[in-house]
Amino acid sequence: MILTVTHTTIEQHQHQSRVVIQNDLSDISNYQNVIIAHPIWWGIPPRLIATLIDTLDLNGKKVATCATSGGTGYFRS
Ligand SMILES: Cc1cc2nc3c(=O)[nH]c(=O)nc-3n(C[C@H](O)[C@H](O)[C@H](O)COP(=O)(O)O)c2cc1C
Repeated sequence: MILTVTHTTIEQHQHQSRVVIQNDLSDISNYQNVIIAHPIWWGIPPRLIATLIDTLDLNGKKVATCATSGGTGYFRS
């Protein structure tokens, strides 16, 4: 049997890992309310979501988050 570790698995286990976002989503100045919705991968949001949160200026925004998952709860997300 050959076992391989996927790129996603490596990224998800490295806390400093970040994924580049192709589209510039950083200008949210016209929005007051921001909902960040994501799947749960290995117990946490995909690293792309970490990049997004790093990028966005959320100061003064009302932020809500939600997730889909195969069963893992939201406690680590
Ligand atoms: C790489 C990867 C890791 C995942 N890790 C988890 C996990 O740790 N816990 C969990 O409940 N679901 C996990 N899932 C399932 C996703 O959360 C689920 O596919 C996603 O919420 C979308 O739901 P759907 O497949 O029904 O459309 C994972 C899926 C992928 C692709």
